[in-house]
Amino acid sequence: MGSLLSGIPGPAEQRIGLRVTPAAERAIRGGHPWVFERAVRQQSRDGRAGDLAVIFDRRRSFLAVGLYDPHAPIRVRVLQHGEPAAINQGWFQARMAAAARLRAPLGKATGDTTGYRLVHGENDGLPGLVVDCYDRTLVLKLYTPAWIPHLRDVLPALADVVPVECLVLRLGRAMQEQPQSLYGLSDGAILVGPPLGGPVVFRENGLRFEVDPVHGQKTGFFLDQRENRARVRGLASGAAVLDVFSYTGGFSLYAAGGGARSVVSVDVSRPALEAALRNFERNQDDPSVARVVRDRAHEVLAEDAFEALARLGRDRRSFDLVIVDPPAFAKKRAEVEGALSAYGRLTHLALGVLRPGGILVQASCSSRVDAETFFTAVHRAAAAVGRPLREIERTGHPIDHPIGFKEGAYLKCLFATAP
Ligand SMILES: C[S@@+](CC[C@H](N)C(=O)[O-])C[C@H]1O[C@@H](n2cnc3c(N)ncnc32)[C@H](O)[C@@H]1O
Repeated sequence: MGSLLSGIPGPAEQRIGLRVTPAAERAIRGGHPWVFERAVRQQSRDGRAGDLAVIFDRRRSFLAVGLYDPHAPIRVRVLQHGEPAAINQGWFQARMAAAARLRAPLGKATGDTTGYRLVHGENDGLPGLVVDCYDRTLVLKLYTPAWIPHLRDVLPALADVVPVECLVLRLGRAMQEQPQSLYGLSDGAILVGPPLGGPVVFRENGLRFEVDPVHGQKTGFFLDQRENRARVRGLASGAAVLDVFSYTGGFSLYAAGGGARSVVSVDVSRPALEAALRNFERNQDDPSVARVVRDRAHEVLAEDAFEALARLGRDRRSFDLVIVDPPAFAKKRAEVEGALSAYGRLTHLALGVLRPGGILVQASCSSRVDAETFFTAVHRAAAAVGRPLREIERTGHPIDHPIGFKEGAYLKCLFATAP
């Protein structure tokens, strides 16, 4: 397993000792997984990414042990709170097994859903590490190079928990700017198995989707919207549906499967829309999807979503169900105001093409914008154009995207009708 990993040194034998500010001590005692650079008061020695750091309190008692990253504002990502532990293959295996148990109700046994998130970083006690499963092709996404010296332990731990035919490595953007910490590993490297010959196909609630784990956005698919997509399937019968920020046609295909009369998918990414068309083609054993394909009732628009919505409005197009699932608009605190105004503009534009009595589904994946603030922004924008929304449902995270700490809550979605 993993010849690419053979030249990578493991973490230093000796752990780094750290003392932190009283506020950081309190946060760690409360189970928070991050220790910021600015909170470090004393450090026993310099270290490399992936060395283990032990945080002690004022009385020199053990608080936590975690992964050290000398270049990141999050200086330590805590692996274990409260009592010391040997961080080794067995430790990783236990965390991964716990994560797998949490996902057991997902219905994998029936084969209807073979795509799910096995490890959701901090929220599963493995900070900065994500594992998404697309059937037996897994994508390991890292957000800190501190994981690299541990991969020789992580990979066998993972293979103990789930079958791995292929394992693709994806690297967060910040990591790709630190080649000196990557030991020759690159985004899209295949760590287990032969090179991928084409897209990987997996199932979600019975529908087949292709995913490109090497080049696709995030790990290739937005697994977190699975339950919202299923809700849309239940609302789409006979509807003209507009799926804005459609990516590879997730909501669009569910809508077609739910009996939509027509579907329009809008995304700025042309490759994503080409995959959306292929996803419709490969689900024609579903008679509702087959009818949409046969009637040429699935239209794709490779355009900026704001411009497309404005144009559809000018053209007096109207839809019974409009889904708006944009990318994260606020990754930093300074971007929150701009994000709220963008959400409001999207609500306004979406209502411009939603027929009276139609359903708006609007989501946000910005963790910086809390749920209440987001829902308020959407309601205000709707009220401002004289179409106060009547809520059907507010939804949050699915079971494979647990929330383990405050910053882990990012996904919220409103289902509402507009007069
Ligand atoms: C959160 S993902 C949508 C996931 C999708 N709804 C699904 O169920 O798979 C956001 C999408 O927005 C697209 N995007 C980003 N900026 C855009 C823009 N200005 N106009 C249109 N699409 C955009 C990205 O290409 C990406 O596919």
